[in-house]
Amino acid sequence: MPEVLVRPSPGALRACMSRFATGVTVVTCNGDDGPHGATMNSFTSVSADPPLVLISVARKAHCHSLLIDRPFCVNILGAEQEPLARLFAGSRGAAEPRWAPDARVPRLANPLAWAECEPWRSYDGGDHTLVLGRVIDLGHRDGDALTYAWSRFGTAAEATNGIEHLI
Ligand SMILES: Cc1cc2nc3c(=O)[nH]c(=O)nc-3n(C[C@H](O)[C@H](O)[C@H](O)COP(=O)(O)O)c2cc1C
Repeated sequence: MPEVLVRPSPGALRACMSRFATGVTVVTCNGDDGPHGATMNSFTSVSADPPLVLISVARKAHCHSLLIDRPFCVNILGAEQEPLARLFAGSRGAAEPRWAPDARVPRLANPLAWAECEPWRSYDGGDHTLVLGRVIDLGHRDGDALTYAWSRFGTAAEATNGIEHLI
């Protein structure tokens, strides 16, 4: 039997993928004339040794040329930081960003967690580029997490006991 190639419509793809709940990050880096940030939910942890994380960056995004082969910071947002997610997704005036002082790579002030990365590898991802970064510094605080599912922002309450023993 010949292989049946299905080319999903953009709408069907969006409908499926919107059911996958994620956290929300703002990826920050040096811009043309100061810090730059872009909201991203394609973030995932990849490897513990070496410590690697992944983001998928749209080729058409301004940050694409700023991120490839350059250091960047992944800022994981807390529940109260939805305005920052909107701002760095292009909603002008949604928030006034505050930046961490003395950071080597531009970083937001007070994210729920952050991971500063140096470039590791990047790979073709169609109309995106898959960017792996090697984590060289990181931090976190207490608080509820900002989430994204069904094309909507939401929150996940902080929890102390999870299923770490299964992973
Ligand atoms: C919830 C959410 C998640 C997003 N995730 C990504 C992502 O993973 N990768 C990406 O390239 N753009 C993503 N975007 C779109 C960018 O945030 C948006 O295109 C932004 O304006 C890019 O900024 P820039 O062009 O100034 O660099 C996301 C937007 C939202 C609202």
